[in-house]
Amino acid sequence: MTKRIRKAVFPVAGLGTRFLPATKAVPKEMLTVVDRPVIQHVVDEARAAGIEHFVFVTGRGKGAIEDHFDIHFELDRTLADRGKTKELEVLKAALPDAGQTSFTRQQAPLGLGHAVWCARDIIGDEPFALLLPDMLHFGKEPCLAGMIDAHGRHGGNIVAVYEVPDSETHQYGIVGIRDEKGEMAITQMVEKPAKGTAPSNLAISGRYILDPSIFDILATQERGAGGEIQLTDAMITLAKSAPFYAHRFDGTIYDTGTKLGFMMANVAYGLAREDLGPAFKVELDKLLGL
Ligand code: G1P
Repeated sequence: MTKRIRKAVFPVAGLGTRFLPATKAVPKEMLTVVDRPVIQHVVDEARAAGIEHFVFVTGRGKGAIEDHFDIHFELDRTLADRGKTKELEVLKAALPDAGQTSFTRQQAPLGLGHAVWCARDIIGDEPFALLLPDMLHFGKEPCLAGMIDAHGRHGGNIVAVYEVPDSETHQYGIVGIRDEKGEMAITQMVEKPAKGTAPSNLAISGRYILDPSIFDILATQERGAGGEIQLTDAMITLAKSAPFYAHRFDGTIYDTGTKLGFMMANVAYGLAREDLGPAFKVELDKLLGL
């Protein structure tokens, strides 16, 4: 029997230097794709997959994220007084229930592996989901829901992957795979391989289901690529004693940590909106002279 995935970790301590000056006073996770912050899109993906507890690993200056997932009493009251029920519903739909969120701090920027390790006490001894908020997974089925289904079928650790061009493999964690009864078993993992050395072009896309034993490994993990404590390095150690599967996401992934990815996400999510899409398309066509 596999244990149900109830908790998800969201590392949100990063400084967002690639997005300055926008992220000087605003956490990068609060930048909006259409009308909701990036972090809201990712939390919604987790909720759609049945996650019940949302663990944010934050840092200095990230208070807006905490406020975003809390009740804003004066705002609710004012909207209610003005009869703005639609807006109230939007706010309510975005709000986790009381007690469903936890916030802990990564006190120093030591890497993704270290950020995940900071959540160890809140996660405890159960398998958990990890979602990197920069990466928006846009498709018919939410990515994490598909991964949790797969976990129910075969258990183990699961990493979502997508194909990237050869020229980009050095920017990601890359996996090698082999077919195992119709599932993609991971045979190799490497964080940011040097150009020309990647085992495939399947990149880790920022969605994981991990066994809690990863925390003991992270506790002693040495610094890897970029001088940071890398999650991928800890996964390589865990893979020596536990199965790892790749889950190919059927959709498009936008890296909102880059300017181009962020702008493309706004276009894709905007066009997909029933209320905004048609009018947006007309304007885009005009702009492009189509
Ligand atoms: C992290 C992971 C990497 C993964 C990437 C996806 O890297 O370490 O394996 O492919 O996220 O965005 P980062 O983007 O933090 O350098």
